[in-house]
Amino acid sequence: MYAWFLSLKTEDGGFRMNSTGEEDVRAVYCCLASAALLNILTPELVEGVADYVSRCQTYEGGIGASPGNEAHAGYAFCGLAALCILYDPRKVGDHIDLDSFVEWLSQRQYQPEGGFSGRTNKLVDGCYCWWVGGCWALLEAGGQPVLWSKPDLQKFVLSCCQAPRGGLRDKPGVKQDFYHSCYVLSGLSEAQYRYSFDGGSEEKHNKLGEWSFMYKFEVEHDEVVLVDDDNAVGPLNPVHVLPWQMGEQMHAFYVAVDD
Ligand code: FPP
Ligand code: ZN
Repeated sequence: MYAWFLSLKTEDGGFRMNSTGEEDVRAVYCCLASAALLNILTPELVEGVADYVSRCQTYEGGIGASPGNEAHAGYAFCGLAALCILYDPRKVGDHIDLDSFVEWLSQRQYQPEGGFSGRTNKLVDGCYCWWVGGCWALLEAGGQPVLWSKPDLQKFVLSCCQAPRGGLRDKPGVKQDFYHSCYVLSGLSEAQYRYSFDGGSEEKHNKLGEWSFMYKFEVEHDEVVLVDDDNAVGPLNPVHVLPWQMGEQMHAFYVAVDD
């Protein structure tokens, strides 16, 4: 797996999605998130990544697929989460212009919908509940102010994203699917919790003789709104978008395998 990840690495610090696939910050995130869980992160694998993410930040403040592309929430999350795998979430401002990133992100929530758009002048879509909401989760863990309405996002999810026959969707009139079910639900979760970063990183050597760590997030309940407790969902690891402690357990498994 490590050799394959290395084979996808490009000279400018990015990664490809497959051997002949696109090079973008989504591939960077997929690779780093997987390598972190598998305990195979090394300096060689991540060399140039922070600089690549920084070059994906656009004049609007968000992050695009690759340098020169339009800022888009899907890629903004990938870039920010990749940085939060590599660095203390409170230090991401060393690698991107945080003020302009926060300004761009704070323009994603629309009224009256309460949902998020993925980019300037586009419509709200349920999946951005995570791609934007997840950015807020990481920023909040890094000590940034909460410049969005968590209750309004929950109202959007509950009133607009639930399909009558189950599952979650982009918006009313559009069919539910697994992708939207995952990211709408993850966004609903994010809107019910507040993440913080405890400052401790667990550093270990891995079998590649280098280093690995997994930053530890803390979580507490935030405002839970609307109707009844049936709308309450569990917390997530905001980097890996996995149920709380799942990523940590997976990482611990591979650390034990190495030992
Ligand atoms: C624009 O679609 C959307 C994209 C080009 C891709 C967005 C990227 C992600 C969702 C991130 C994926 C990340 C992983 C890890 C798989 P559109 O023009 O239909 O939507 P829009 O009008 O909302 O921009
Ligand atoms: Zn969508």
